[in-house]
Amino acid sequence: MSDKPTILEADSLYHVYESKAEDGNVVALRGLHVNVKEGEAVAVVGPSGSGKSTLLKCLGGLMKPSAGKVSLDGKNMTRLTGLELVELRQKTVSFIFQEGNLLPHLSALDNVAQPLRHQKVSPKESKRRAMELMEELGIAHRAKGLPSMLSGGEQQRVAIARALITNPRLILADEPTGALDPITSREVLKLFKELHERDNVAFLLVTHSKEVAAFADRSLELRDGRFVAEHGKDVNIEDLSGDRELIIDDMGTVTLPPDVLTRMGGPGRYSVGELSSGYLTLKGEAIDDTGNLILASSCSACNHDYGKSDEQECPSCGSMRPLIEE
Ligand SMILES: Nc1ncnc2c1ncn2[C@@H]1O[C@H](COP(=O)(O)OP(=O)(O)OP(=O)(O)O)[C@@H](O)[C@H]1O
Ligand SMILES: [Mg+2]
Repeated sequence: MSDKPTILEADSLYHVYESKAEDGNVVALRGLHVNVKEGEAVAVVGPSGSGKSTLLKCLGGLMKPSAGKVSLDGKNMTRLTGLELVELRQKTVSFIFQEGNLLPHLSALDNVAQPLRHQKVSPKESKRRAMELMEELGIAHRAKGLPSMLSGGEQQRVAIARALITNPRLILADEPTGALDPITSREVLKLFKELHERDNVAFLLVTHSKEVAAFADRSLELRDGRFVAEHGKDVNIEDLSGDRELIIDDMGTVTLPPDVLTRMGGPGRYSVGELSSGYLTLKGEAIDDTGNLILASSCSACNHDYGKSDEQECPSCGSMRPLIEE
């Protein structure tokens, strides 16, 4: 994976929404690094307000970040003129947003065909390709409708068809299945998988859905404008070190990124070791004399019997395997 060329790269990305209101400026992104290779699918997960949409808009060149550099297909977007930027975006990337993807005065079919107008494709051929995609997404029967006449799920599928018609090499999507029912959402995901596997299309998807995140090769977890963890097959923890810090709230609650928790030995009892101002060590209670973890023999959520395996995650329900005390 790592020797493939990079399609999207961001370096030290910061974004501040300036406001004169009482609560002042909002720092939405705090020095992020992102690197997406050709054909790679990356998910961005995180709670509401953590900066996911802001990140996507900055990466797609729809919003200028307060600081930092974004390169698309090897070209530094902040250096391009308006026209160069439009051209680069048109031939490389498509967007699918949470809402407001469609032109209200055009029919669904014309909305899907419209991006091809800039690409010297005849109107007849554009409509044929638009119809083909709409059939694939199960919305061909709504081709003549205006966006306002379509349901939220139908509008979202029109938006997806519109994003796909230019054969982009990268798709940036913000909650692409958020407005869809589970069945339609699975169909959209199937189409994404096909594009990913067959056509080597790269994805950066913001999502709350486990299924969408599972489609991705890895997922980045955003909290308060910082990446706090990375999950998946191709994870390089070192990439995160600059951005990692833990927050202890005023109730004394510490939230550990999942990969840190796993490396510590998972949930369980920890005794407080050394303690002084600004310094704390924790020692897991469930570590035997040789330093090995003592793992529960069955899943506390679904009773799955782990037998002799040393898996950390329950294969039947996905719960984290607890540790036990000696
Ligand atoms: N136009 C804006 N002006 C001021 N602050 C904004 C603006 N847009 C977003 N913010 C603030 O920036 C932070 C990040 O917002 P963002 O929309 O990127 O979050 P998100 O992770 O996409 O949330 P959600 O999951 O709810 O879509 C939030 O605190 C939000 O209130
Ligand atoms: Mg958002």
